[in-house]
Amino acid sequence: MNLPKSVTICEVGMRDGLQIEERFVPTDEKIDSVNRLSKTGLRRIQVTSFVSPKAVPQLADASEVMAGIERRPGVVYSALVPNERGAHRALEAGVDELDTVLSASDTHNLANVNMTTAQSLDRMGGVMEIARRGGVPVVAGIATSFGCPFEGDVPHERLAWVVAGLADLGVAGICLADTTGMANPLQVQQIFRQLVPNYPHLAWSLHMHDTRSMGLAAILAAMEAGVTSFDASFGGLGGCPFAPGASGNVCTEDLVHCLESMGVETGVDLKMLVMTATRGEQAVGHPLRGQILRAGPSTRRYPVPDSVRERVSAR
Ligand code: COA
Ligand code: ZN
Repeated sequence: MNLPKSVTICEVGMRDGLQIEERFVPTDEKIDSVNRLSKTGLRRIQVTSFVSPKAVPQLADASEVMAGIERRPGVVYSALVPNERGAHRALEAGVDELDTVLSASDTHNLANVNMTTAQSLDRMGGVMEIARRGGVPVVAGIATSFGCPFEGDVPHERLAWVVAGLADLGVAGICLADTTGMANPLQVQQIFRQLVPNYPHLAWSLHMHDTRSMGLAAILAAMEAGVTSFDASFGGLGGCPFAPGASGNVCTEDLVHCLESMGVETGVDLKMLVMTATRGEQAVGHPLRGQILRAGPSTRRYPVPDSVRERVSAR
């Protein structure tokens, strides 16, 4: 396999994860989770979103969370914003980067942010201007990049049109998002191979939901296409409230375990991350879906059963 020496993981559980949880996680617990995540070695954390509190009441405390967290040097703290209002609020709260969102498909964009994709692209100009004045970079997320739960296939020309529009606006990076886990690994690899050479100056990343268990495989396929930046969610939290059938992101612990076992550096302390995910289960009030949380790492060893111990030592 053609693997990179290291990758960057952006932890999105605090935003993508908590936005779909039934329980409102209290602000001090959110702050505690972000602080714990900061200590694991993660270099990018999407802390929250500055969206309408009516649309996503779970993250209505975005400003308070940003104000309460300890800022660890070297960690980029970002937030998701859908419009100019969100960009102003996020900058006031002191984010290091704005992560914008629009969907490649009109239907999901209308359900998510009440605009067509073209209208969202128009509004992005205002967001870019606010970011420029505030001196922070913009990473543009494209939801439903690989398929839409309402419309089905998203034609490549459509995705290419959105990417071109965002590149013209001067975004620093583009994150292709598989909002409801529709993408297969080959498709992900092909799309990156088609798009990246046209925009080599952009920071490309991939945001996979593991709805159909193809998340890790898609990340490996994207790495072979040269992508080295991936979103993931501790415990495997995640899901879009405006996309039917959405479920959790690729789990950060599972991704770190997979990559590190192949010698690809993530900079993340797996043990600390697992402990943070265990705390996360208490915060949301239900078990999380990460595999390493249950199975432990592959280096885990069990006591030899009495029934075979003698035979083993006699060998
Ligand atoms: N932050 C806080 N409030 C906001 C806001 C923002 N970024 N943008 C708009 N609002 C408020 C307006 O002030 C207005 O409030 P009011 O009803 O008290 O007057 C209300 O929201 C409606 O504003 P409007 O500009 O007409 O927006 P809309 O109703 O067309 O909704 C969005 C558009 C984008 C604000 C809304 O759809 C949204 O927040 N979506 C979030 C999607 C999301 O987070 N999805 C999951 C992540 S992908
Ligand atoms: Zn997502």
